[in-house]
Amino acid sequence: MKGLVLSGGKGTRLRPITYTSAKQLVPVANKPVLFRVIEALRDADIDEIGIVIGDTGAEVRNAVGNGSRWGVKIEYIPQEAPLGLAHAVKISRPFIGDDKFALFLGDNCIEGGVSSLVSGFATSDHNAQIVLKQVANPQQYGVAELRHDGSIERLTEKPRQPRSDLALVGIYMFDQHIWEAVEAIKPSWRGELEITDAIQWLIEHDYHVHAHIHQGWWIDTGKRADMLDANRLVLEEITPHVSGFVDRDSQLVGKVTIEKGAQVINSVIRGPAIIGEETRIVNSYVGPFTSIYHHCTIEESEIEHSIVLENSEIIRLPNRIEDSLIGRNVKLHTSPMKPKAYRLMLGDNSDVGLL
Ligand code: TTP
Repeated sequence: MKGLVLSGGKGTRLRPITYTSAKQLVPVANKPVLFRVIEALRDADIDEIGIVIGDTGAEVRNAVGNGSRWGVKIEYIPQEAPLGLAHAVKISRPFIGDDKFALFLGDNCIEGGVSSLVSGFATSDHNAQIVLKQVANPQQYGVAELRHDGSIERLTEKPRQPRSDLALVGIYMFDQHIWEAVEAIKPSWRGELEITDAIQWLIEHDYHVHAHIHQGWWIDTGKRADMLDANRLVLEEITPHVSGFVDRDSQLVGKVTIEKGAQVINSVIRGPAIIGEETRIVNSYVGPFTSIYHHCTIEESEIEHSIVLENSEIIRLPNRIEDSLIGRNVKLHTSPMKPKAYRLMLGDNSDVGLL
């Protein structure tokens, strides 16, 4: 089987981060979500992977390369505009050919990987497989209604009044009949070719679509709160190690990873937490569920349940930072300049909660 990963899209829900970078490259527990997706496919013995890219394509290519780092072969498939998941599938036909394939959204994280799903589908006579998960807010997702025997009755994209709480997880498997479906469907009211419509088409044309209900956690990292949730869940799973320097006045409590070249000076890090390469934590407190990426500085500040991306500085903040996603090259500090005032340079759609 081949793998197809969607890493284009608009990323409107994660602005302003997505004005300048790909949301699939935001690190969760200091590893980009997209790398986690590639690893999940590789662990399922899929070694030919196509990645659909959009406006952030150059950044994705740069970060991922040709796949040799993971022992897989990666091909890039540019999509001229984010015209929908089924459109991204449609343009990937030359790459996939008549093989069966696994489609994975590049911003999704799933507990336990996809090995058994992939091998189960590869040896089955199903034409497609979808993965479902019970959620509290089905109106935000594609939703499946099942019959008593577990077969799928209907799929609806973001229904106003959902008739089931089973959301479609961003992992799908198809055989060659999907090509008929993506040719047949028309754009939805939002102008996109919807993957739910393509699967609904398969169901209506008597193809066998199998529904698997996933029991572990699943996170679509498209929004800040979900990104922080994914960070929390993944941090709980990783095996901690200390490769950087921790001085005698510092304390590491619980599952804490200190990456190569990082320094922790006179600080308390309470895990699960990860401190990235070459990052300095000085006279500070880093609390649970926090990932600080590479080349950052945290000085005389407190932070927890947050993600900080590379090269950012947080210096002498009088109050603790919580539930925050802080981008690259951000400078957050108190300033001695008079008059005393907030001096901000914030991008469009920034979201700042001041005390
Ligand atoms: P979504 O999160 O559904 O869409 P989006 O990325 O445009 O984000 P938002 O809703 O916040 O504006 O997309 C799921 C994944 O599929 C994501 O990794 C982006 C990718 N994608 C494409 O590659 N091509 C597309 O045409 C679309 C719509 C999404």
